[in-house]
Amino acid sequence: MIQISDALKSPLDYARLPREELAERIRRRKTELNAVILGHNYQRVEIQEVSDYLGDSLGLSQEAARTDADVIVFCGVHFMAETAKILSPGKTVLMPDLRAGCPMADFVTGDALRRLKAQYPGAVVVAYVNSTAEVKAESDISCTSANVVQVIDTIPADRTILLVPDRNLARYAAERSGRPYVIAGREGGEVKPGSIVAWDGYCYVHDDLVLDELAEAKRKHPRALVVIHPESRAELLAQADVVASTARMVDIAEQNEEVIFGTERGIVDRLKARFPDKTLVPLSGAAICGNMKVNTLAKLAWCLDHQQHELVLDEDVRTRAELSLRRMLELNQGWAAPTAEEAALEEAGLRKTGCGCA
Ligand code: 13P
Ligand code: SF4
Repeated sequence: MIQISDALKSPLDYARLPREELAERIRRRKTELNAVILGHNYQRVEIQEVSDYLGDSLGLSQEAARTDADVIVFCGVHFMAETAKILSPGKTVLMPDLRAGCPMADFVTGDALRRLKAQYPGAVVVAYVNSTAEVKAESDISCTSANVVQVIDTIPADRTILLVPDRNLARYAAERSGRPYVIAGREGGEVKPGSIVAWDGYCYVHDDLVLDELAEAKRKHPRALVVIHPESRAELLAQADVVASTARMVDIAEQNEEVIFGTERGIVDRLKARFPDKTLVPLSGAAICGNMKVNTLAKLAWCLDHQQHELVLDEDVRTRAELSLRRMLELNQGWAAPTAEEAALEEAGLRKTGCGCA
């Protein structure tokens, strides 16, 4: 057992330790605390190496819902750790650095969404998982990059949908589901029933990927499969052979020899290390999510030794956000069976199952 006297004071002290020592310390401490490390695919390679589970937002939320661990250490950004806490309220959720936020999630607040809802009474609200707990609490159902079309397709064709906060993802879902698309605040007239009304938010990493860079990558690798993340702009997605979440990108790398990836380059760096004989190239070398990289191995070791920073949520917000996430996870069989108490509430009609938006 690492004694508290073994714990160093600040993350800076940990940063002076060799990488192997940090990794060993993390592994030992994790076992002592019965902790699990969940890491997003964009984390630094050294964090990916000590993670127990690596994945996209959907996989990570499924894992957070089913883990037996007492402590979840989330190496990702703030909304992902919030999602883990929403789904596993009895567990301690820790983040190596609370400043690892997602600027896209911060585009919309609970108040702003309530105002939009008042403008569109009766609309179904879909929250992309890259949103705050407060925004999820205001939504009917959540979605991720892996299941957005599946979620939209559960909603009756004549029901207007408010999809927040990513305008690019919303446009992609509208095209795939054959619904009209409009950006909130730029309607310019009556909105047709069944439209997707998108919040005007975006991801600075994906929205910055441009056609010129893709043309250059294709010129160098004419036979490569082009795989692009749905947070990218429509003109780029139109050039994709496959539009995929980060977890699906990993599967595609396993199955193909030559691939151009339109996403954050951290995932490509890891895939290149894993498959050195394949041609796996980032669409843009500049596509780096600085927010994901705020987490370091030293901060992770500090976080485990000091059991900080703990993520805490208001219980009313949490329970309402849980319903939104649960409706999504039920579509993907990712939700553990309800407890006896939940089942009784469902039976009494006090706790709804299914999408609930029809
Ligand atoms: P994935 O769910 O596809 O991993 O995407 C999360 C994200 O933040 C992409 O920018
Ligand atoms: Fe947020 Fe974009 Fe970073 Fe993903 S890549 S965490 S959407 S800022």
